[in-house]
Amino acid sequence: MSAAGPGPALDRRPILITGGAGFVGANLADRLAAEGHTVIIYDALARAGVERNLAWLIEQHGDRIAPVIADIRDRDELARAVGEAGAVFHFAAQVAVTTSLTAPRDDMEVNLGGTLNLLEALRARGEAVPLLFASTNKVYGGLPDVALTLAGDAYLPEDPSLRQRGIGEDRPLDFHTPYGCSKGAADAYVLDYARTYGLPTVVMRMSCIYGPRQMGNEDQGWVAHFLIRALKGEPITLYGDGRQVRDILHVDDCVAAYRAALARIDRVAGRAFNLGGGPANAVSLRGLIAHAGQLLGREIAVETGPWRPGDQRYYVSDPSRAVEALGLARPLSWREGVAQLAGWLGERVGDDQSAEPRLRRQPEAAL
Ligand SMILES: NC(=O)c1ccc[n+]([C@@H]2O[C@H](COP(=O)([O-])OP(=O)(O)OC[C@H]3O[C@@H](n4cnc5c(N)ncnc54)[C@H](O)[C@@H]3O)[C@@H](O)[C@H]2O)c1
Repeated sequence: MSAAGPGPALDRRPILITGGAGFVGANLADRLAAEGHTVIIYDALARAGVERNLAWLIEQHGDRIAPVIADIRDRDELARAVGEAGAVFHFAAQVAVTTSLTAPRDDMEVNLGGTLNLLEALRARGEAVPLLFASTNKVYGGLPDVALTLAGDAYLPEDPSLRQRGIGEDRPLDFHTPYGCSKGAADAYVLDYARTYGLPTVVMRMSCIYGPRQMGNEDQGWVAHFLIRALKGEPITLYGDGRQVRDILHVDDCVAAYRAALARIDRVAGRAFNLGGGPANAVSLRGLIAHAGQLLGREIAVETGPWRPGDQRYYVSDPSRAVEALGLARPLSWREGVAQLAGWLGERVGDDQSAEPRLRRQPEAAL
């Protein structure tokens, strides 16, 4: 199992997690509440299924979980929640590239407008309240200049050093798709509020995070989505050729990184980090399906569709700056993490026939 980083010193003030009912937020809230923190979960429950995460958190931690069911665009409600907080983790977002393409204004209002609401609420406090923001590798765009070669079922950079290290923070920003623009602009604002107003902020440009409590679907959360389809015996649609490569990181390691950033906020404020599994945990979509097939002992049916806009053929982060600055342990290997997740999901999804009835009988079982 991966090691958790040092946690934030126990502060009597609550910790605010926007999007705290979501996948990453719920895992972090669980960890912080287990340490004795009161956690304000500020979430509009916009993503289908996340209400099960919130119910689970309350069941586990009772009064330590303080839910505020509200929208990040609601400035007054948000300011009230921010008013009490000793630290803020900002995860609430419109998270799907696909949705951003059909509703770019909503995407911008939630991802950029919501982030600005939060920054302004923090600025109005006039105190150095730490803010940790979940950005995305999409801020680096499609990497069109990176020459790729095919190695079996995977795209890899021709440049051996890039292959070995991955994409670092010095890579020029190149926002692509409305989601890339809204998250990228929010990323820039969060960093600038550190520069201009002295707010202690940190940006995590995350690769694919996977693990329990992700409501993985075709639009976002592909590792969980693939496993759920495979467990149900349903075909997986690959958009593009399935040779896209991503580095994947288990949510426990992601949570450890956020906690370490808060614990070291004096040293890391104003910085952006690439957070992912790195080259050691890079896998193509087809590679992950092959691994899932081995785990489940069955052939997984695959269908194909056209490439989707903004879909990088290769994105693997260089996490070395985050590892060094945050003192992170070696992450869980992707094969082991995916096997664990398959086991976790398998207890909830069941086999073909029982999947849906079993889920209905166990509403707290988050997928
Ligand atoms: N999971 C990943 O692989 C990944 C990768 C890169 C970046 N990110 C970023 O990390 C953050 C967390 O991602 P996640 O995987 O936990 O997503 P998630 O969808 O599980 O969680 C997001 C939460 O935000 C809430 N939300 C959505 N719109 C809202 C609004 N208008 N007001 C208030 N709450 C709202 C949703 O209900 C949900 O609970 C997001 O900002 C996402 O962009 C995630």
